[in-house]
Amino acid sequence: MGLIEKIEHLKKERKAVILAHNYQLPEVQDCADYVGDSLGLSIEAAKTDAEVIVFCGVHFMAETAKILSPNKTVLLPAPDAGCPMADMITAEALRKLKAEHPGAKVVCYVNTSADVKAECDICCTSANAVEVVERGLKDAREIIFVPDQYLAAFVAGKTGRTFITWPGFCPTHARILPEHITAARALHPGCAVIVHPECRPEVTALADITVSTGGMSRFAHETKAKEIVVGTEPGIIHRLKKENPDKIFYPLTEDLVCPNMKKTTLEKVLWSLEAMQPAIEVAEEIAVPARRSIEAMLAIG
Ligand code: 13P
Ligand code: SF4
Repeated sequence: MGLIEKIEHLKKERKAVILAHNYQLPEVQDCADYVGDSLGLSIEAAKTDAEVIVFCGVHFMAETAKILSPNKTVLLPAPDAGCPMADMITAEALRKLKAEHPGAKVVCYVNTSADVKAECDICCTSANAVEVVERGLKDAREIIFVPDQYLAAFVAGKTGRTFITWPGFCPTHARILPEHITAARALHPGCAVIVHPECRPEVTALADITVSTGGMSRFAHETKAKEIVVGTEPGIIHRLKKENPDKIFYPLTEDLVCPNMKKTTLEKVLWSLEAMQPAIEVAEEIAVPARRSIEAMLAIG
């Protein structure tokens, strides 16, 4: 039996589902039951009736799945796959910030640890951050938005709200500069340029659309443009090409790989299903308040 057949076989035996983020390696995406952005993955993790979730992504995503499905086994085949942005804020630092702004509501990006989520009122992803602020926090006088300063700037621009921010950022998306967009437009006249809200404001200002990776998939399908320049981790281009064989996709720059998103291999998926490890655990006293903030987000729709 080949690697993929072995995974399929064991997946059935374990009653497992494989969830993969849009940035995963092509072969990992192809063996997944669901491929999506952080919001889509959280929704899938909450509603699946599988007994085991194999999470092909980074640690905070698997942790979110475990918080939403505490009675399921959540496996993270690459346990060292972290997110440097999520590591830029701790629960202790957030508690200090909250003490400096008593009465402020706290929204935290899903790219945070469970400890940080436990300290916030409502969670958001790049797909729903604008709605979370507009609908979930419309009566808030002061809002703390952590940890991504660029996502906060993007949402501030869309909602007209001001935020108390944190100097966090994604090291991958921060490498995208305005001159990359200018050069891409000169090289591909008539192209559409799509970027992620983790990009710098001077970059999002020059793009045709700024959306989550799930939003990129929808936009690529709907746009009349035949050439699309993609300003995010290039793993998503595999999916975009599969969904739109008549269109051409270019990475905005060559230097946008997120090393953590590439740590999951098919071998690791198989090993994790064989050993039923590494399994994610979240202590109950953290999981309960963290779940409240994620469910508050999911209730926004
Ligand atoms: P989305 O897929 O939710 O847009 O997030 C991108 C990301 O950086 C996840 O780590
Ligand atoms: Fe974290 Fe950026 Fe990698 Fe996403 S792309 S996991 S935000 S470092």
